[in-house]
Amino acid sequence: MEEPWRILEFYSGIGGMRYSLMKAGIRGEVVEAFDINDRANDVYEHNFGHRPFQGNIQTLTAAELDKYRAHAWFLSPPCQPYTRQGLQKDSADARAVSFIKILELMLHMLHPPLSLFVENVVGFEVSDTHKQLINVLLKLGFVTQEYILSPLQFGIPYSRPRYFCLAKREPLSFQNPFFNNKLLWTPPERNLLMDSNNHSNERNVEMQFFCEPIRNFLETQNLRDQQDCLGIDSHDDFNGSSADSEYGTDDVGEEVKGGTISKNDVPIYTVPLSLIERWGSAMDIVFPESKRCCCFTKSYYRYVKGTGSLLVTSQNIKLEPEEKPEVSSLKEKALRFFTPREVANLHSFPADFNFPSHISLRQRYALLGNSLSVAVVAPLLHYLFAEPT
Ligand SMILES: C[S@@+](CC[C@H](N)C(=O)[O-])C[C@H]1O[C@@H](n2cnc3c(N)ncnc32)[C@H](O)[C@@H]1O
Repeated sequence: MEEPWRILEFYSGIGGMRYSLMKAGIRGEVVEAFDINDRANDVYEHNFGHRPFQGNIQTLTAAELDKYRAHAWFLSPPCQPYTRQGLQKDSADARAVSFIKILELMLHMLHPPLSLFVENVVGFEVSDTHKQLINVLLKLGFVTQEYILSPLQFGIPYSRPRYFCLAKREPLSFQNPFFNNKLLWTPPERNLLMDSNNHSNERNVEMQFFCEPIRNFLETQNLRDQQDCLGIDSHDDFNGSSADSEYGTDDVGEEVKGGTISKNDVPIYTVPLSLIERWGSAMDIVFPESKRCCCFTKSYYRYVKGTGSLLVTSQNIKLEPEEKPEVSSLKEKALRFFTPREVANLHSFPADFNFPSHISLRQRYALLGNSLSVAVVAPLLHYLFAEPT
């Protein structure tokens, strides 16, 4: 294809899909992005110089969408309808309506897209909405390849397994058609080496042996400097458990080599003692040398249980790998929250991504928690747009 791919980015948030497109090195242009959240749109505009269409995707019509003449659609719809904590109301959840509506619109378009990329939580693949997605795609002559992948499989010490649907219709086809209409647990470039009889497509989304240590993702500047710019939030209304925690806890501890913060006053990223006393046993504690941390959800920093890992900053603590710290010892460990920049690093966002100054600390965490791993999505997009050899 000669002209750049014309792409629509639905549920654009802070632009994780667009960063992935850039990282994948694809000749593509996001001709429009859509999001209802004005804070997310502020961040998107700040970084890309383009403000997404601010409105409810549910109100779009087939004729409006046809006007974009888009070749590809990227969609990362709300995941709450499919999570355990979101009550799994599935397509009956109001938050699923816009996605179902837009899928159905494709059937009425004169120029439906040639390829599609959908991201969602694990659990989506067994939902009603998934059935509707596949039905629409079949009616339009798409073939799909579906994946469940985590950044841990890409060398990033971060567990965030997610579901991805890649879909293409003629004249396009996948590089490896053996895997058409299958759900896979290994990245496409590894599948390219296999044929349909190969059994090595194991559920290895938790691989972590070749990951970099968390230390490589930490900020090196004095974190207290950030307090002045971000003094908007206080520790006053921290809570223990949250409605959107998605994962259990699991941590690895090794010798600590860095990542300290000052203990004068209570720096904004320090976990208060009261929280450690109450919720210490439920916290996911990691060290700079750890090779895995838990998924950061949109409630990180507001709640400590199941919303993401906390970092030990004391240089004196040593733990054997896999050893879990005693709650009573946590107080000495100078626990802190990962900063938004560090969460962005673990999401493999580029170094020049940043937030406009009016976005509060809580909002930063919430927006990042809704976003995605560029390290996972970029190679998937690369595979989606690659032509068969
Ligand atoms: C899971 S997040 C996607 C985040 C995005 N991929 C990113 O990198 O930040 C879902 C996004 O959809 C937006 N959204 C939810 N329902 C919407 C609707 N009906 N119309 C437009 N945007 C919607 C939310 O504001 C949120 O930013």
